[in-house]
Amino acid sequence: MAFLSWSDQYLVHIAEIDTQHKKLFDMVNEMHDSMRAGKGNEVMGKILKGLTDYVKTHFATEERLMSVNNYPDLAKHKQEHDKLTQAALALYNDFVAGKPVVTFELMTFLKKWLSDHIMGTDKKYGPFLNSKGIK
Ligand code: FE2
Ligand code: FE2
Repeated sequence: MAFLSWSDQYLVHIAEIDTQHKKLFDMVNEMHDSMRAGKGNEVMGKILKGLTDYVKTHFATEERLMSVNNYPDLAKHKQEHDKLTQAALALYNDFVAGKPVVTFELMTFLKKWLSDHIMGTDKKYGPFLNSKGIK
């Protein structure tokens, strides 16, 4: 069984976003599998970098959609993204500095923030954007 299992409860019902969220789940699972398989720092570093880059791309996609549609809670949503981006960056910098950062604690943290952010924050723009014709 996957570390992080996708289910329809995570759908925000916007095709581009749901595709990106699924990819994030896949990336977290890949990272988890590689960690469990005891992959070395070089592999883990690449995966971590890929994940942080994709998170940035994903946040930019959401912020663009919210912005062009005048989503009223954009500022608050963006604040959450910024916090998560800072945390991811700090993590990556620690990794580059040679600290062993890819741990079970990190994986549990990623799992929790991804599911909490989608369920608690992303889900809120779904109906709003749907009402603007974004599907
Ligand atoms: Fe998201
Ligand atoms: Fe978001």
